[in-house]
Amino acid sequence: MSEKLWRVGQRELDYIKEALDLGLTGVMNQKLEYEFAKKMGVKYAVGVNSGTSALHSCLAAMGIGQGDEVIVPPLTFASTAFSVLYLGGVPVFADIDPDTFNISHEDIARKITSRTKAIIPVSLYGLSAEMDPIMEIADTYDIFVLEDCAQCFLGKYKGKTAGTIGHMGIFSFERSKHMTTGNGGMLITNDAELAEKARKFSILGYSTLKAGAYETKPPKDIIQDPNFERHLFVSPNYRLPEVCAAMALAQLEQLDMFVDRRIKIAKIYSNVLSECEWLHSQKTPEYTVNTYFTYAMKLDSQKANVSWEQFRKEYLEIGGDPYYAAWKLTYTEPAIQGMKFENGIEYKPGLCPIAEKIQPQIIQLKTNYESLDYAKKQAEIISQTIDKIEK
Ligand SMILES: Cc1ncc(COP(=O)(O)O)c(C=O)c1O
Repeated sequence: MSEKLWRVGQRELDYIKEALDLGLTGVMNQKLEYEFAKKMGVKYAVGVNSGTSALHSCLAAMGIGQGDEVIVPPLTFASTAFSVLYLGGVPVFADIDPDTFNISHEDIARKITSRTKAIIPVSLYGLSAEMDPIMEIADTYDIFVLEDCAQCFLGKYKGKTAGTIGHMGIFSFERSKHMTTGNGGMLITNDAELAEKARKFSILGYSTLKAGAYETKPPKDIIQDPNFERHLFVSPNYRLPEVCAAMALAQLEQLDMFVDRRIKIAKIYSNVLSECEWLHSQKTPEYTVNTYFTYAMKLDSQKANVSWEQFRKEYLEIGGDPYYAAWKLTYTEPAIQGMKFENGIEYKPGLCPIAEKIQPQIIQLKTNYESLDYAKKQAEIISQTIDKIEK
C-alpha cells in the first residue's frame, strides 16, 4: 500500500493558503483552539508543536518539580514518562490490566506516597483508561490527573469524552494519529489557571499570555516599549506553527469521519478474530468507546504453539500488511534502564510483572486505511494465517 496520506487533501491546502494570505498573524491558531475546545466540550485548548510538549507543558502547569512522583504506565510511548523527567520529577510505574492493557487503578493505589503529585493515565490504542477509580484516588489524595490521549480522539468513558475527565488532557497530531499535522499537539482543560500556566510555559514564560485563545494581545505601545518585561520564567518554545494550525483545523472538521473509519475497520477485524482462542483483542468495556488508534491484540503463543515472530512471518508471506509490536516498556529502554532515585525507586526488571508478560505478546494491526475493502482483505489474510497455524 502506498505511504501517501489519504487523510490530507484540498481542504488542508485551502486552509494553509488562507493562513499564508492572512500573513501568518495567528488567526488560524486561535480558530483551531476555539474549535478544538468546542469539539471536546471544554473551556480551554492550547496548541503546541507535539504531544510530548503538551505533556511537558501540562506537568509544568501542575507544578511538578524536583523529586515529585508522577504515576505512569510502563506500556506507552516514552514521552509519558520522559515529560516527568524533563522537570526533575520521578516517573513511578504502575502495572497494567492484562485485558485492556491500560494502567491498573489497583496498582496506582499501591504506588501512592506522600510525594505523589500526579497520575498520567494513557488512553492506550484508543481506549480510555478506567477513569472513575483513578479520579477517586486523585480526589482522596488531592493530586492532579493528566490524561494522555495522544492516541485517543473522541473516545468515550461512561459518556464522557476521553481527555476531559482529568484536570488536563493532551492529544498528538503526529503523522499516524486520528488527525495529523505531521507534528503537533493540543492540551485541554476546564481550569483557567492551569491553561494560563501551560500556555505561558509553552512559549518562553511569555508574560502577556492568558488562558484563552481569543484573549486580546496587549497594545503595541506596551509590547514595543524598551522596558517591556516579556519573560516571567525560563521555559521552552513549543509554539504550533500556523501552517500546522491551519492543517489541523481542516483535519478537525473531518475528525468524526476519521474516527468512524477506524472503528469500522476494527469491527472488520473483530469479526474474524472472535472465534480464535489464542488471539485476544484489547478488551473494550461496554461503557467505553474505543477509537482504535490501532487494533491491539495479544497472542497466546503457548496455546497457538507459534511465536510472535513466526505468526508475523506467516502473515507477511500470505500478503499481510506489516504490523507493529508494542513499544518496549519505558523503564527497560536504554535511556532510563538502571536509573535510581533518592526515594529508593530503581528501574529494573520486575517492576511491572503483568506488563512485562503482556508486552511481548502484543500485535497492533493498522486501522488507518482509506479503503474498507482493503481492510477486509487484511482481515481475510489474518483469518488465513490463523487457519494455517491451526492445521
Ligand atoms: C501515548 C502517547 N503519548 C505521547 C505521545 C507523544 O506525541 P508526539 O509524538 O506528538 O510528541 C505519543 C505519540 O506517539 C503517544 O502515542
